[in-house]
Amino acid sequence: MKQDRSQPLLDGGFWRAVIVMAIISAVLMYVVVVFPIDRLFLPEASTVSVDIDNLFKFSMFFGVPILVYVNGFIIYFAIRYRLKPGEPIDAVGSSIHDHPTLEAVWTVIPGVLMVVLAVLSYFIIPMYYPTGQATASAVTMEAIGHKWYFEFRYPGLKDSVMNEMHLPVGVPVTLEITSSEATQDVATGAVLHSFWVPEFRLKQDMIPGMVVPIHFTPSEIGTFHIVCAEFCGLGHSHMWGSVVVQSKPDFDKWYADQQRAEAAEAEGVRPISLQGGDASAGQTLFNAKCVVCHNAAPFAQRKVGPGLADLFDDPDHPDLVTGKKASPNNVADILEHGAHGDIGVMPNMQANGITDKDIANLVAYLQTLHK
Ligand code: CUA
Repeated sequence: MKQDRSQPLLDGGFWRAVIVMAIISAVLMYVVVVFPIDRLFLPEASTVSVDIDNLFKFSMFFGVPILVYVNGFIIYFAIRYRLKPGEPIDAVGSSIHDHPTLEAVWTVIPGVLMVVLAVLSYFIIPMYYPTGQATASAVTMEAIGHKWYFEFRYPGLKDSVMNEMHLPVGVPVTLEITSSEATQDVATGAVLHSFWVPEFRLKQDMIPGMVVPIHFTPSEIGTFHIVCAEFCGLGHSHMWGSVVVQSKPDFDKWYADQQRAEAAEAEGVRPISLQGGDASAGQTLFNAKCVVCHNAAPFAQRKVGPGLADLFDDPDHPDLVTGKKASPNNVADILEHGAHGDIGVMPNMQANGITDKDIANLVAYLQTLHK
C-alpha cells in the first residue's frame, strides 16, 4: 500500500530541529562578533583594515544562520523522511508547493542584507582610492609587478628597491600600482599580477599600461607579507615580498642608507669577489631560486632561460647573453646586473634577493656542473 503523506509533516520533531539550529546559530553569531581577528588570525596593520574586517563580520554574522539552517534542514529532512523498513520503495514524502509568505521571507531578507552590504562597501572601499584633498598623502611612490618580483620606486631614490618595501608607521601613503609593460619584459610579454598585503587588507591588480593609485596608512610597526595573488606564469609561487613598517626615525635612517649606497655606487664600481665560493651552498640556492627559470641541464632544456649545465664549456654557445666570453667573472656580472635576452629577462641581484657571497657560491656551483 502506498503511504499517503499529502499533509505536511511539520510536527514536533521539525520545530525541535528549528530550535536546536537557532541555538547553534546564536552561539556561532556571538563567536563571529567577539572573535579577535587581529590577535588570533591576522594583524590589522592599516587604518582601513578594521573597516574591512567589519564588512567581513557583517557578512559572516548573517551568513552563519543561513549556513546552519540550509545544511541543518538538509540533514534533518534526509533523516526524518528516509525510507523506513516496511515502506514501499515508491513511497513519497509530503509535497509542499506555493507558499507565498515563505518565498517572500527568503527573498526579502537576503535582498535587504545585500543592499545593506552594498551601502557599507560603498563607503568603505573608496577609502583605498584617493580623491582630492581628503586623502592628501605624505608619500607618493610606485609599485611595479615584474616576472617575478616587485619593484618599488621612491621619490628621491634613483635605484628601485626590490621585493622589500619600507614605510613609516602612521604616515598616509599613495601607492601607484602597475605592471611592467611588454617593452620591459621583452618577449615574455606583459601579464597581470596582483599586489596583496593581507595584513593591510589591501589587494589591487597590477595591470600593464594602467596605473591605479591606492591610498592607505600603515598603523602597526612590523614586517608583513606582500603576495602576488594572481597566477602570472612559472615563477608565480616565488613572487613574494615584504613590507617593513618602521617608526619614522628608523624609516628615515633606512632611506638615508639607501641614498648613501647610491652615492657610493656612483663613485666606483664595486667588484664582486669570487674567492671562496661554496659550490654546495650555491647548489642549494640554485634549487631554491634559479630553478624557476633555469634547468641544471644542457642549453636546449630551457624553461624561461636556457639550461645552465654546460655554461662554461658549450662549443655551440661560447658567448653569454651579454656577448661576453663565458668566464666566471662575466657570469657574476650577469648575476649582479641581470640581462635582457631574446627569450626573457634575467633580473638583477636586488630583484633576485641575492648577496655578493651568494653570487660567488652560485658561480662555484655552476662550474661544477659540466663533467
Ligand atoms: Cu605575479 Cu603571480
